[in-house]
Amino acid sequence: MANLTAKTAIITGANSGIGLEAAIGLARQGADVVLACRNPSKGSAAKTEIEQRAQAGTVTLMSLDLASFASIRSFANEVLDRYPNISILLNNAGIVARDRTVTVDGFEQTFGVNHLGHFLLTTLLLDRITTTPKARIVTVASHAHKFARTGLDFDDLQTEHGYKAMRVYGKSKLANIMFTHELARRIADTGATANSVHPGFVASNFGRNDPLGNLTMMLAKPFALSPAKGALTSIYVSSDPAVEGVNGKYFYKCAAVEPTSYGRDDSAARRLWDISKQLVASA
Ligand SMILES: NC(=O)c1ccc[n+]([C@@H]2O[C@H](COP(=O)([O-])OP(=O)(O)OC[C@H]3O[C@@H](n4cnc5c(N)ncnc54)[C@H](OP(=O)(O)O)[C@@H]3O)[C@@H](O)[C@H]2O)c1
Repeated sequence: MANLTAKTAIITGANSGIGLEAAIGLARQGADVVLACRNPSKGSAAKTEIEQRAQAGTVTLMSLDLASFASIRSFANEVLDRYPNISILLNNAGIVARDRTVTVDGFEQTFGVNHLGHFLLTTLLLDRITTTPKARIVTVASHAHKFARTGLDFDDLQTEHGYKAMRVYGKSKLANIMFTHELARRIADTGATANSVHPGFVASNFGRNDPLGNLTMMLAKPFALSPAKGALTSIYVSSDPAVEGVNGKYFYKCAAVEPTSYGRDDSAARRLWDISKQLVASA
């Protein structure tokens, strides 16, 4: 256990599954946990559960919808007003949209929430994070990044052609890894670190909004990890002293592993960063 007393830890999608358990794990170590959630009643129920189960740290609920740049900007402004230090940013929230839909700002939903939303959030908070001693940015990616067999299609990042839910999800998770790769390079001399994780296959609420996803989760549940076990790598990379100073890695089962070659491609990662910066500035 690390001593996270008086350290602020922001967790997106902290009301459910892996994020909820990660919030409990970080609060138990004394962190001041900020639950960044889009649904106030789910967030409020999660706050009560985390307080009851952690019995340590503090828990604050704040509103964040990663499908809206206005919501992300307002959340970031409030965080910057309230917290002089940010020790942990855990970019955990994620979705897979069965059909092609778009965010408030007109971007394809799965890429928009999983990648662009977290890109904007992280870059808005980056100065505060990098001036906090030994801060950590952890992004929950997935081995599903392997579904992006030919990497990202920079000519169709919004998948306007041939939408297939799991392939688009895989690309969004590859984008999480590429984002972390480039972010780690950019913050290398600040003392802050950026890493990504694969939690394993976890019986959470993931995909539950879709009847097929719901059925798949039910059938696969006996083979899946509990959310508490699925959160272990996120908690480890966010807080364990053994990971101090480790930067730009992809973790699974609390150990650094190699993502596909697309996740290690310096120039593609820089290209994604530059395009993402333009996209979030355009809306
Ligand atoms: N489960 C797995 O097997 C697995 C495997 C590999 C990677 N992952 C990754 O693990 C992460 C956590 O997923 P999980 O399995 O814990 O699923 P989950 O139980 O469905 O939790 C996802 C969380 O993301 C939140 N979220 C979705 N859209 C959002 C938005 N627009 N703004 C803010 N929050 C939003 C959800 O909020 P609501 O409750 O309001 O919907 C929920 O709190 C995801 O990034 C996922 O890609 C999961």
